[in-house]
Amino acid sequence: MIPYSRQSINEDDISAVTAVLRSDWLTQGPNVAAFEKALAECCGAKFAVAVPNGTAALYIAYKAAGLKEGDEIITSPNTFVATSNMALVCGAKPVFCDIRSDTRNIDETKIESLITKKTKAIVPVHFAGHPCEMNAIEKVAKKHGLLVIDDACHAIGAEYHGKKIGGQSDLSVFSFHPVKPITTGEGGAILTNNEKYYKRMIVLRTHGITKDPKKTETIGKWFYEMVELGFNNRITDIQCALGSSQLKRLQQFQAKREAVANYYFKALKHESRIILPVCLPAIKHSWHLFAIEVRDTAKRRAVFDHLQKNGIGAQVHYIPAHYQPYYKKLGYGRKRYPNAEHYYTGAISLPIYPDLSQADQDFVIEKLREALKM
Ligand SMILES: Cc1ncc(COP(=O)(O)O)c(C=O)c1O
Repeated sequence: MIPYSRQSINEDDISAVTAVLRSDWLTQGPNVAAFEKALAECCGAKFAVAVPNGTAALYIAYKAAGLKEGDEIITSPNTFVATSNMALVCGAKPVFCDIRSDTRNIDETKIESLITKKTKAIVPVHFAGHPCEMNAIEKVAKKHGLLVIDDACHAIGAEYHGKKIGGQSDLSVFSFHPVKPITTGEGGAILTNNEKYYKRMIVLRTHGITKDPKKTETIGKWFYEMVELGFNNRITDIQCALGSSQLKRLQQFQAKREAVANYYFKALKHESRIILPVCLPAIKHSWHLFAIEVRDTAKRRAVFDHLQKNGIGAQVHYIPAHYQPYYKKLGYGRKRYPNAEHYYTGAISLPIYPDLSQADQDFVIEKLREALKM
């Protein structure tokens, strides 16, 4: 099977991991801080907190931002459900905003009309790795005193107007699942320039526990205090060693993904039966996904099945969040987001990853053409 995305692991990655296995620290050791430092530097942020997955990262970011019962966030329905789920877990209400049909990102012109007294944050999702219109989003956030927490799970390495995604917003959330631009097996991180958020996230990552050096000195080295309710959201040194090694390869991964995207663009530019993704000027795409749309939406299922039947692990990103049974029960089923809904009816993600061979890519193109002719 040619998957829609997958990891690229080399001998350096393997050596980095095995070195940790031979060391004293499998978790809570020096590799976590080293990965966090490298991540922060890579994205131009002051602080990074590494956690076990992107979902935990969203939860911790929302908690650090003070998201609570009665609050609202504004986000995209064209995302993995974790983006809105974690707001619900915090007791807050996700308010969906329709997407642009070109980038499939949140439509920045529609955000302001959804702001209420309860709105606490705007949560743009850089779908597929194409940055959202951050200038407009930041402007509206500033005007209304809102936070910007970007779900950058697809977008490490992406840039908006020359600035790295992850270094600009109040909080930025990443995922390092093996399909993502870099991997730690499972993994995630939150980046911020705000020390207050950083300190709170460190506490939230470890059961809501703090260790005040003054108190440990007077009371004893064993002493700690649990100051808020939290989970064990620690990531291991094994994962972080892999992450640091992968981060060194990010530029190369990004260039390879871009080369795959360009090859599709060249081969499929005259294929009128599909809509290709866009890459607007002044951005750098991380190409986590290469999502096309079948114009004749009635044929999407047949095209998808034909690819799958031929061993091509095409996927669909995403079933709009408000279509999910859980969201329907909450009343979201009655809401309409025409662009997200229409995009979903034709969407197919084609394979894109650094080690995708030209022969495999040619095979995908051939099978796609075959399917479109059916
Ligand atoms: C946009 C988006 N947000 C959040 C997540 C959750 O990340 P994780 O799978 O690492 O928990 C994902 C994962 O697919 C995602 O694509």
